Amino acid sequence: MNVHDRRKLVAGNWKMNGSLAQLKELAAIAEAARAAASVDVAVCPPFTLISAAVTRAGGVPVGAQDCHARGSGAHTGCVSVAMLKEAGAKLVIVGHSERRADQHETDAEVRAKAEAALAGGLTTIVCVGESEAEREAGRHVEVVAAQLAGSLPDHWSGGELVVAYEPIWAIGTGRTATPYDVADMHHAIRAALTARFGDAGGRIRILYGGSVKAENAAELFAVDDVDGALVGGASLTAAQFVPIIQAAAGA
Ligand code: PGA
Repeated sequence: MNVHDRRKLVAGNWKMNGSLAQLKELAAIAEAARAAASVDVAVCPPFTLISAAVTRAGGVPVGAQDCHARGSGAHTGCVSVAMLKEAGAKLVIVGHSERRADQHETDAEVRAKAEAALAGGLTTIVCVGESEAEREAGRHVEVVAAQLAGSLPDHWSGGELVVAYEPIWAIGTGRTATPYDVADMHHAIRAALTARFGDAGGRIRILYGGSVKAENAAELFAVDDVDGALVGGASLTAAQFVPIIQAAAGA
């Protein structure tokens, strides 16, 4: 499939940031999303803000940053896919490197979460990415290939599977991978997806994440096989997020 057949997706990951007051940012984000008709936009605030965000987001899909693989039960502190859907979530991020590090999530757990989310009909963004040491050792492609092999479901129906490549050393650091490095990795990911899933692998959107901002968005979106961005810090205000949406529309 040609890159032009995949709509760009620009998703904001608020992480453990935001408040009811901060939802005022959503009005301008929604307006920019309406103007950028060729781009899909989404915002993933903390769990506690999802349902309020849905009422304020003017039709922009709202998502979560994690889910549990089980539907219900004795899992204190966890949130199921059904609960997310009841709150109005349309998508979920799973396997973010911060959760893989802080909550020791394994590929197998990420895969189980992705399976549950997809079965529930959610757009499911599965994150992968290498550490700085792994890149310096020249192991980045191998590491990401192993994460993909372990974290993605074998088959799915219901929701849409999306992959986000987020080099850990680029997250929240202001350092971005060069367009050359991004092209290299996104080609490797595309090859792995088509080898495993055939035509369906050509339809999976591959997002780049890691210090995406207004200044670098256009050059990243111009890279082959970059089908959008997962944006952390720069998604917290409309002033920073809207130019990224606009860059995707111009790409
Ligand atoms: P960042 O975060 O844009 O703040 O680097 C991206 C992410 O972790 O999803």
